[in-house]
Amino acid sequence: MIDFDNLTPKEIVQELDKYIVGQDKAKKLVAIALRNRQRRQKLPDDLRDEVAPKNIIMIGPTGVGKTEIARRLSKLSGAPFIKVEATKYTEVGYVGRDVESMVRDLLSVSMSMVKNEMQENVRKTAESRTEEALLDLLLPGVKPGKPDAAMGSQNNSVTVTPASDAAVSTREKFREKLQKGELEDKQVEVDVVKRNSPSMQIFSGTNFEEMDIQLGSLGNIFGNKKKKKKVSIKQAREIILAEEMDKLIDMDQVADIAKHRCEQMGIIFLDEIDKVAGSANRQGADVSREGVQRDILPIVEGSQVNTRYGIIDTSHILFIAAGAFHMSKPSDLIPELQGRFPLRVELQALSAADFVKILTQPRNALITQYVELLKTEEVTLEFDEAAIHRISEIAMDVNSKTENIGARRLHTIMENLLEDISFNATDIKGQTIKVTKDYVNERLNEIIEDRDLTRFIL
Ligand SMILES: Nc1ncnc2c1ncn2[C@@H]1O[C@H](COP(=O)(O)OP(=O)(O)OP(=O)(O)O)[C@@H](O)[C@H]1O
Ligand SMILES: [Mg+2]
Repeated sequence: MIDFDNLTPKEIVQELDKYIVGQDKAKKLVAIALRNRQRRQKLPDDLRDEVAPKNIIMIGPTGVGKTEIARRLSKLSGAPFIKVEATKYTEVGYVGRDVESMVRDLLSVSMSMVKNEMQENVRKTAESRTEEALLDLLLPGVKPGKPDAAMGSQNNSVTVTPASDAAVSTREKFREKLQKGELEDKQVEVDVVKRNSPSMQIFSGTNFEEMDIQLGSLGNIFGNKKKKKKVSIKQAREIILAEEMDKLIDMDQVADIAKHRCEQMGIIFLDEIDKVAGSANRQGADVSREGVQRDILPIVEGSQVNTRYGIIDTSHILFIAAGAFHMSKPSDLIPELQGRFPLRVELQALSAADFVKILTQPRNALITQYVELLKTEEVTLEFDEAAIHRISEIAMDVNSKTENIGARRLHTIMENLLEDISFNATDIKGQTIKVTKDYVNERLNEIIEDRDLTRFIL
């Protein structure tokens, strides 16, 4: 992974450019917002607390890259990041997820990030302990070490047979076999912890997050039972390694670091924000949408959210909201919420030229995806330039005649275009298929000319 911390705004944009065509303004703003958080970390304590994150709203028609920008950011960024749909939440008091759960979700992302990092640090130690444990399983009753050590633990209730020279050398032989991977399928018995989860019904009425918090403290009451299970060495290694790593990691420390990172560096991407904006004449469902907005407000403004690892202060979490704002305008959001998103950026509708680029340029470009997929069947797929232009043209055309779904149109068109080739791939092994403009026309013209067909198929 790239060291995101040290990327300049320009470099962040360059990274995003590898996947997202156009939308320069949005990329720029996002890059600045991220860099500002690094800058803030360098300020003296008193000033640092004063600098609020510059939350962003991305506005733009459907399928032009709003979510894609967020998705890429999350992959690039070393910061805890989650993407949530505003529509998923319900007002406090109603059945459903309350908005605070997004902060809890962010914290669990942060927790697993930190835990993974720590696991890498202890992996070596855990691996060597796992090897010893596997040898113990393979050769029960023979403990390694010098006879003296065993004598020392005489008053211990566990009797340890002092290892004879023979035993030691057997152990070393097994170690060698183990390392060469010759024993992978051998069956052994391991203790696995079986977590007894209480019946869910007890908690009906309370929501899931609250239950989680309660369980955090109750967990031990229900107890974790150990159970013997027969598994292969390969599986046993995974089980034991996970256990050893857990033993080596101080979860309190993980929680502390994770909380800090979540509060200081966390990013929440609030998608579909327009769908909770009511229109001017509000009635029915709009009232509850406004309720969701009111619930979101304190979180964006900075408030304390209770989690199972303690309180999280949301003041410095960066929020990036996005929405198509077809049916509503940003000004339909409640005023307080508008104020919490000072930066607005409009994403542009995509042109045919953009479509050509989207098909070919990004690292994960659609055409590359299809070429690689078919390569696994030993079919070589080649697109000539005219064909790609024709595909883009068709996408534009269909978008304007039916609904404009942006770059998503390319997915349906490509799928239709390559349907036969995909289906017959196994019969044409070893062949090279050239997709030409004529082929595109032949496959798609019939559908385009018939409006009803277009509506259903593309
Ligand atoms: N500018 C772009 N560059 C590259 N790919 C794009 C771009 N815009 C859209 N795409 C492609 O189109 C698909 C849909 O885009 P995305 O999910 O970002 O839409 P969106 O703007 O979030 O729309 P919605 O408002 O419906 O959520 C993505 O999978 C992505 O591959
Ligand atoms: Mg989206």
